[in-house]
Formats: sequence, C-alpha cells, structure tokens
Amino acid sequence: MPECIQPENGKSYDHMDSSFVVMPRDTNHYGNVHGGIIVVAADNLAYAIAARFSRSNVVTARIGEWDFIHPVHAGDNVLLAADIVRVGHSSMDVRICVSGEVLKTGETFAVASALLTMVAVDEHGKPNPFVPRA
Ligand SMILES: CC(C)(COP(=O)(O)OP(=O)(O)OC[C@H]1O[C@@H](n2cnc3c(N)ncnc32)[C@H](O)[C@@H]1OP(=O)(O)O)[C@@H](O)C(=O)NCCC(=O)NCCS
Repeated sequence: MPECIQPENGKSYDHMDSSFVVMPRDTNHYGNVHGGIIVVAADNLAYAIAARFSRSNVVTARIGEWDFIHPVHAGDNVLLAADIVRVGHSSMDVRICVSGEVLKTGETFAVASALLTMVAVDEHGKPNPFVPRA
C-alpha cells in the first residue's frame, strides 16, 4: 500500500477493505476519475465497517479532512482501506485511505484520505449508544 495517513495514535479498532476498477463513465472528458466517485465509495465503506462494528444501522454525520493527492484514470484499480480510529458512545471516526493501482504494470500510488464520523442510530433515526462487536 502506498504512503497514506495512518490511524491516529496507530490504534485501529477494526479494519475493512474494498476496491473497484474505474470505468469511463466515472471520469471527466480527459480521463480523470470524478472526486465524487471516490467519495461515494469511501462513504459506502465507512457505512459497512461502522455498521459491522456497532451491529447497528448507522448514518454519516460528517465527511471531513478530504485530501486528493493524485489523479486516477479509467482502467486503474482503486483500493480503499478503512480503520475505525475513534469510538464514542454512539459515534465512530473512520479513517479512509485510498490508493490507486495501474493493473497492467503493478504501479501503486496514494490517491486520497479522509475522516468520516458515523453515528449508530435506532429505528427512529436517533443516536443509539452501542457495544462494539467482540
Ligand atoms: C447524526 C445524527 C443522528 C445526530 O443526531 P443528534 O441528535 O444531533 O445527536 P447528538 O448531538 O446527540 O450526538 C450523537 C453523537 O453523534 C456525534 N455527532 C453528531 N453530529 C456530529 C457531527 N456533525 N460531526 C461529528 N459527530 C457528530 C456526537 O458527537 C455524538 O457522539 P457520541 O454519542 O459518540 O458522544 C443526526 O444529526 C442525523 O440524523 N443527521 C443526518 C444523517 C444523514 O442522513 N446522513 C446521510 C447524509 S444526508
């Protein structure tokens, strides 16, 4: 994995990965992926790791600290790594680290990083303190 911001204090309460290949529909007219495509993938992964960790429905309360470091092109593989770096009562901070891979050469590069706050909610959409999964 290329250089990426590590979890705060080096502590990760849980980890999850995902990846997708960039399609032409995901890019602008000169072949770079739209940033929003990566944001959606990061939000989906943050949902998955937070829902698994809390064994609860979760909502995205905050998407912050986005840094885009390097463009990605159609045909590249985008790899997302999620770590839960803070656990509150009903909230969790998820650090997302995004890297790119040129499939034909194996070259890898850092793409982006972000910090998302996910909140566990009950059936009424209200914050719901949780016990982390074992
Ligand atoms: C997130 C949400 C459930 C919080 O409800 P709330 O009644 O304001 O919650 P509270 O003020 O009691 O805070 C509950 C927890 O969420 C955290 N939180 C709430 N808003 C936050 C924000 N903007 N950023 C970071 N954390 C936040 C609080 O720190 C608290 O954490 P803790 O329980 O671990 O101590 C509510 O604002 C909501 O439903 N927002 C819409 C979410 C959504 O639909 N997202 C999809 C994109 S639109």
